[in-house]
Amino acid sequence: MRITVCRDPEAASALVARRIAAALARDPALVLSLPTGRTPIALYDRLTQAVAEGRVDFARAVTFNLDEFVGIGAAHPGSYRTFMERHLFSRIGIPRRRTHLLDGRARDLAAECARFERAIAGAGGVDLQLLGIGLNGHVGFNEPGPDLMAGTHRMKLTSQTRRANAALFGGDLRQVPREALTMGMGTILRAQRIILLATGWSKARIVRRALEGPVTTWLPASFLQLHGDVEVVLDRDAASRLSPQGPHGPRVTRPRS
Ligand code: PGA
Repeated sequence: MRITVCRDPEAASALVARRIAAALARDPALVLSLPTGRTPIALYDRLTQAVAEGRVDFARAVTFNLDEFVGIGAAHPGSYRTFMERHLFSRIGIPRRRTHLLDGRARDLAAECARFERAIAGAGGVDLQLLGIGLNGHVGFNEPGPDLMAGTHRMKLTSQTRRANAALFGGDLRQVPREALTMGMGTILRAQRIILLATGWSKARIVRRALEGPVTTWLPASFLQLHGDVEVVLDRDAASRLSPQGPHGPRVTRPRS
C-alpha cells in the first residue's frame, strides 16, 4: 500500500483528480468504478473543472458505481444515480450508456446483482477503483460483520450508515432505505488498481485500523491490504493517527501540491 498525505482535503482531491486524468490520458476507454458520499464531491468538482478546461475527456470512459439503495428508483432524489448525475455525469459529457449503476428497484435483485457482475466482466474488468471509507470501515456497502460476500449482493445497512446517508433524504432517517445492493469485496479487489480517498479527523481512527490493523471482516477496508496496487490518499487530519513507525511509515509520501 502506498500512502500519500496531502495538506488538506482540497489538495487530496486535486491529487486524485490528477491520477484519474493521467489514467484517462493513457487509456481513454478506461473502466472506472466510482463511489458516492461527501468525500468525493470535491474530487468530482475538480474533474468537472478539468473537463471544462479540456484537460480530461470522459467521452470513451466507462463507469460503474459501487452501490445503490434498494427500493428506490434511479430518478428518486436520494438515489445514487441522482447523486452521480448531479455531481459528475451531467457535468462531464459522459454518454449515459457507458455509466452503470445497480437498479435498486429490479424485481429480481439477485438477478440484478448477477447482471452487474456480467457487465463488469463484459467491460473487461475495472481498471481503476475509487473508494471512500465509512466511519465503520465499510467500502461500498460492505458493512462489518462475521462474514463478507465476494460478489455483488444485497446488504442490510447499519443504523450508522443509514444516519450518514440521511442528508440525501431531507435529513429524515425514516426515509433512508434499510438495504442496498453493493459490489462485494471480491468485485472490488479484482480491480487492477485502487485509490482510496479519506479526509478529515473523523476518519483518522478507522484509517489507522484499516491500514495498520489485522485484516478482518469486522473492518472491510482492511482487505485492501491484500491488494497489490492500492494508493491511500489522505489529508493531514485523516492521517493524524497513523503510527510514524507503523508498517506504512517509510512509504508515506507528501506531495508538494
Ligand atoms: P463519506 O462516505 O464520504 O460521506 O464519509 C464514505 C463512505 O461511506 O464510503
